[in-house]
Amino acid sequence: MMLRSLWRSPAFSFSYYSNLDLSCPYPSFQARDLTTTHTMHYITKPPCDPKIMTFGAFHTDHLLEIDWSEKMGWSRPQIVPFKSFSIHPFSACLHYAIECFEGAKAYRGPDNSIRTFRLNCNMYRMKQSAKRLSLPDFDGGELERCIEQLLKVDRDWIPDRPGFSCYIRPTLMATEEALGVRASSRAKLFVVLCPVGPYFPSGLKPVRVFCNTSTIRSAPGGVGGYKVAGNYAPTVLPLKEVQKIGFHQNLWMLPDGLVQEMGVCNLFFFWKNKQGEKELVTPILDGTILPGISRDSILELTRNMGKFKVIEKKLYIQEVVEAMEEGRMIEMFGSGTAVSIQPIEAIGYNDKIYEVQYDQKLNAGELSHELFDILTNIQVQSEYQFQTGGGEHKWVRSI
Ligand code: COI
Repeated sequence: MMLRSLWRSPAFSFSYYSNLDLSCPYPSFQARDLTTTHTMHYITKPPCDPKIMTFGAFHTDHLLEIDWSEKMGWSRPQIVPFKSFSIHPFSACLHYAIECFEGAKAYRGPDNSIRTFRLNCNMYRMKQSAKRLSLPDFDGGELERCIEQLLKVDRDWIPDRPGFSCYIRPTLMATEEALGVRASSRAKLFVVLCPVGPYFPSGLKPVRVFCNTSTIRSAPGGVGGYKVAGNYAPTVLPLKEVQKIGFHQNLWMLPDGLVQEMGVCNLFFFWKNKQGEKELVTPILDGTILPGISRDSILELTRNMGKFKVIEKKLYIQEVVEAMEEGRMIEMFGSGTAVSIQPIEAIGYNDKIYEVQYDQKLNAGELSHELFDILTNIQVQSEYQFQTGGGEHKWVRSI
């Protein structure tokens, strides 16, 4: 009883990002060694139109690259004109998906400054993914400084329209030219940027999700808790399949009904429990779930609101269905860097479709909408700065 209440108390809640040790026990590349070669051929920028500037469609003028080899260690970081890589057909990343990546965003504030949002958390998570794949470790703070420099070089690409941002995609891949399945003796770290509009051109838009009982995304002891490339490839076919039957995304769960994620998002359920108390519930980080930075932010924000219970737990689909059947479900949504908040309007499970009401004007539930606004305000610092008398939020770094 005592332990239970301690676990529920915000002061004792666990955050994957509470100890952001970005250091590296081996010699890492250093941001002070960074060199920049500016492009001679600037690319024409696309218009800030949500229908044109879709997710991942355009790249900026430059990229950051850093090579590693067992013999030489890390090379000096370089910002160079955007280019294709020449890659040996035997490279381990091509055959065994020895590759991890990150997704972060930079924003342009109303005062024209460029801001990153919790980029240090992405660095931390990328270090964990790299270690899991036996890819070389690096100093996350140094990579963050290099990325800030890349953002400065390509700052004209960071859109100034509300709802638009610059997606940052750091990637680390094994480049050893040998077909053996083993730790790679060579690797390449690179970072590319792309200007993006709102994930959904028409704004927040609730989706219909299908509880996939025949395919699983990640299993206990696997790598679902890491952002590794191999987690994504097997989701493409099940996505095509659910889209054929009128759903937008899969809800991933284990065969016993343990709820995990939705598409590439973490999941949240806002319901009344059997005692009639409001609770925001999300699956606990059990190693099969990606420790989302948006997820972590939502947990901290809602715990600070203090308006309802906020719970991370092992959550079963049967509990979700029961809450829907008993009319206790208030809202459901996903979260992720690309989408921010993704409201859910219906869940398909075992030949039944369970719908949840949402505000048709907001195109979201009240809480999802409020969280979307709070996150956007912090990221762009528009109203946040105004409300706090000009202070910068702890999650934001102006560069
Ligand atoms: C993100 O939300 O940043 C993701 O990682 C999703 C991405 C795979 C499209």
